[in-house]
Amino acid sequence: MIREILENQPNLSRDRLIPILQEIQDENGYLSEEAIVVTAEFLKLPTSKVYGVATYFDQFRFEPRGKYHIRICRGTACHVEGSLNFQNELEKILKIKPGQTTRDGLFSLDIVRCIGACGLAPVMDINAEFYTGFNITDLSNIINTYRLKD
Ligand code: FES
Repeated sequence: MIREILENQPNLSRDRLIPILQEIQDENGYLSEEAIVVTAEFLKLPTSKVYGVATYFDQFRFEPRGKYHIRICRGTACHVEGSLNFQNELEKILKIKPGQTTRDGLFSLDIVRCIGACGLAPVMDINAEFYTGFNITDLSNIINTYRLKD
C-alpha cells in the first residue's frame, strides 16, 4: 500500500514530502517505520531527514490508532473554553500523550487545530462521534462509556 501510494504520485519531488506522508497516514492511520524508510528510498532522501520532518509536525503519528480514536480540538475557540485542561485530563485518565495509543490498544489521542464547530466549543470526537460543551468531570464518564462498550 505504501509503495502503491508512492508509485502513483504524479511528481516524486522532495518538496512533496509532507503531502505524501499525509496521504500515507490517511491511508494507514499512522506512519510506520516502513513508511518512513520506503518514502526516503523513493525520494532519495536520508531516512533521518524524513523522520525529522515528520516528527516536526504534530499532525503525524507513529503508532497505530486505538480502537477508539480521540481527537481533542486545540483551536482558538476551544482554547478559550479550556481545552488545554481537557487535554491534560485526558492524558491523565488514559496515561498517554497526544500521538500515542494505550497499551491495551483501546484508546489513542490526537490534537487537532479546529474541527469546524467553534460555536459549540469545547469540542472533541471519538471515532467521529462529537462531544461538545463538556466539562472536566464529564471526561472520565465519557471514557468509561467506551471502556464498558468493550
Ligand atoms: S476551535 Fe475548536 S472547533 Fe474550532
